[in-house]
Amino acid sequence: MKIGVFIPIGNNGWLISTTAPQYRPSFALNRTVVQSAERWGFDFALSMIKLRGFGGATEFWDHNLESFTLMAGLASVTSRIRLFATVATLAIPPAIAARMAATIDDISGGRFGLNVITGWQKPEYDQMGLWPGDDYFARRYDYVAEYVQILRDLWDTGRSDRKSEFFRMDDCRLSPRPQAPIKLICAGQSDAGMMFSATHADYNFCFGKGVNTPTAFTPAAARLTAATAITGRQVTCYALFMVIADETDDAAWAKWELYKSGVDTEAVAWLMRQGAADTKSGDDTNIRQMASPTSAVNINMGTLVGAFERVAKLLDAVASVPGTEGVLLTFDDFITGTEAFGARIQPLMKTRAHVVPSIKAA
Ligand SMILES: Cc1cc2nc3c(=O)[nH]c(=O)nc-3n(C[C@H](O)[C@H](O)[C@H](O)COP(=O)(O)O)c2cc1C
Repeated sequence: MKIGVFIPIGNNGWLISTTAPQYRPSFALNRTVVQSAERWGFDFALSMIKLRGFGGATEFWDHNLESFTLMAGLASVTSRIRLFATVATLAIPPAIAARMAATIDDISGGRFGLNVITGWQKPEYDQMGLWPGDDYFARRYDYVAEYVQILRDLWDTGRSDRKSEFFRMDDCRLSPRPQAPIKLICAGQSDAGMMFSATHADYNFCFGKGVNTPTAFTPAAARLTAATAITGRQVTCYALFMVIADETDDAAWAKWELYKSGVDTEAVAWLMRQGAADTKSGDDTNIRQMASPTSAVNINMGTLVGAFERVAKLLDAVASVPGTEGVLLTFDDFITGTEAFGARIQPLMKTRAHVVPSIKAA
């Protein structure tokens, strides 16, 4: 099974809580995390793009670095791990994204890929005059489908003449082209998002579900498999999980309970309002699930809590879900979490027995 880390490009990572570790994002922090991940044999690191935070007492995600420039910096201080940036497709024209990707492909020696997002949070784009109107909620994946075809034209042939509803390319050029194929991630959860991934992406990331229920995302993986059966393409599922681990179950659960007790209700209320704004997508699989009160403290991502050996077993179970190729991990504390994963959890995982870290556990 492949393992990636969803690096802390925004403040406080993915815990919307006054009692979770409080920190600002920086290049130094992300360099430490990604270099540690590389030494422990992680397969990839991904950074998101978030242009407007949720506010509240924790100023949640009010402080965010930019994804491409962060990954360019990280490319120059790593040598093996694969790196993915996220492109805000409403804000960056495809020809510029294609050129930035080709540049990081060069810096990284062919280790770069792209997470393509439609944008689900209107204020991120409205604040710059870039929100196309609320009809966009229903057309999001039509828009990015045209967008990625232009990326592919430019990366594959160095030219695009594509004229479509949203874009007009006129003998648009790209050189140098990337030395390695640029893999595309999408994290669509809606039916339209899954069909987009099945048609255009290489991997679809979905939310893991629940606490210590590592296979509960099976229906999402099955929907992706059904979509790929229609398109006939090979697109694998990666599940997003937060790991909260410690020497004992009790110690790990104590941290999880502490974080939940400090939930930043004002920031969560903002998230709920944003989730509710998309009334057009027409199903319950979309972004609204992130704001569900069940576990809004970590945006309802699947959570694995326990002693190191318990988390190792839970992660092995993720791999048993048909169509699943990997997991994307977040941690309550990214520096100690990445190290503990490498030194204490990974050596106990059957699905990672093949991995040879470049450092040994102490
Ligand atoms: C692993 C992962 C990474 C994501 N990265 C971003 C991101 O960087 N920026 C963003 O606005 N949305 C991001 N999203 C949201 C997705 O792009 C997507 O909009 C969301 O999962 C809802 O699916 P839907 O678009 O099909 O409704 C991410 C979701 C996941 C699971």
